[in-house]
Amino acid sequence: MRLLLLLGLGLVLACAPRTEGKHSVVKRNFDSRKIAGKWYSILLASDRKDKIEENGSMRVFVENIHAFPNGSLGYKLHTIVDGKCAELILVSDKTGKDGEYFVEYKGHNTFRILETDYIKYAIFHLTNVNNGETFQMTKLYGREKDLSEKIKQNFVKICKKYGIAEENIVDLTKADRCLQARGQ
Ligand SMILES: *[C@@H]1O[C@H](CO)[C@@H](O)[C@H](O)[C@H]1NC(C)=O
Ligand SMILES: *[C@@H]1O[C@H](CO)[C@@H](O)[C@H](O)[C@H]1NC(C)=O
Repeated sequence: MRLLLLLGLGLVLACAPRTEGKHSVVKRNFDSRKIAGKWYSILLASDRKDKIEENGSMRVFVENIHAFPNGSLGYKLHTIVDGKCAELILVSDKTGKDGEYFVEYKGHNTFRILETDYIKYAIFHLTNVNNGETFQMTKLYGREKDLSEKIKQNFVKICKKYGIAEENIVDLTKADRCLQARGQ
């Protein structure tokens, strides 16, 4: 009996998933259900910095992402309008390309998840086309209010890869990002 119990325990241990402490980073074939949940906007970057600076049209803060059964992503966001936090709800539909979505907001926005580990951070790339004008944006989202320097440096590297200079990165952890308006 004891031997059987030990044998059983051994099997359970052998089959338990190995946790390596470090979660793997996903760069394609994203699982939208795992992207869902609570997020904080940590860093924003753009080749049109005015769009993400104070009163910029794309200075938007994430609170929550919802994964719909049809694959669309719903967003609960906040923006500051006339000095006050305003809630913004958007739904982005899949475009058919891996990890790519489309949403109308201050123009036509096509965006992709560039990489995520689902549990700590996610990096998005967005292209906005409005009245024949195009600019791009990258965003770093965190599951907590702030992220490690290592993850932020990785984001800086990715921005550079897309031609967005480090001085065009806005640190929202030091700004009003409507934390007080969350959960309402
Ligand atoms: C997917 O479902 C959501 C929620 O019902 C809806 O808003 C969105 O328009 C749907 N997208 C498509 C492409 O059907
Ligand atoms: C942003 O808008 C607010 C309210 O309209 C205004 O008080 C503030 O000066 C503006 N900030 C900048 C940097 O333009």
